[in-house]
Amino acid sequence: MCDETRYLTFALGKGRLAKKTLALFEQIGIEMEEMKDPDTRKLIFTNEEYKIRFFLAKGPDVPTYVEYGAADIGVVGEDTILEENRNIYEVLDLGFGKCRMCVCGPASAKELLNHHERIRVASKYPRIAKDYFYNKKHQTVEIIKLNGSIELAPIVGLSEVIVDIVETGSTLRENGLEVLEEVCPLSARMVVNQVSMKMEHDRITDLISALRKALENEEA
Ligand code: PRP
Repeated sequence: MCDETRYLTFALGKGRLAKKTLALFEQIGIEMEEMKDPDTRKLIFTNEEYKIRFFLAKGPDVPTYVEYGAADIGVVGEDTILEENRNIYEVLDLGFGKCRMCVCGPASAKELLNHHERIRVASKYPRIAKDYFYNKKHQTVEIIKLNGSIELAPIVGLSEVIVDIVETGSTLRENGLEVLEEVCPLSARMVVNQVSMKMEHDRITDLISALRKALENEEA
């Protein structure tokens, strides 16, 4: 009889989150040895025993793969989920990749925030920045989209403040900036395609339970 189990496909955001995700999967007995080879140019990796496939993608593309069903499941930061705003289910807080989304700038910018001045805000996360200033603070600002090294913006005079991720705070400290307001806490999340959640309900919920248990054991 042929085995008709279909592959469950996972999209992982490249980098630290992917490494931690693989370590977590190992804890529940799912190994992806090939994926650990730093020299490999392969894009997709299969575990035949569990009928699972993993691929690495740019973080902001993970919710896209999951919404369209090219991946059943994704692992990506909450920041990316909020920014991309895709139609996907968020099913599990993986607890790692903890950091904060903050409004940052020089101490002198505090006054501008307190007085609801029409300031410029640079960010890699224009949707999150807009939601925070317009819907939570009711402050009209000009949002400038950047793609990286956001801390440069207030230093060179592109903007008064930034909305960015703060993890250890060392990038801010080394550049004479500080956290002025906190937007929200962040961590890595597991997301699921809405159709896959119905079609593969048992496999996916079993997997979520196993991962949740492994995470609880880690905490204990
Ligand atoms: C992120 C973020 C901050 C930094 C925060 O940048 O945008 O710059 O990390 O970490 P810290 O609080 O531990 O210093 P990333 O390294 O991803 O590069 P990018 O700024 O080019 O996006």
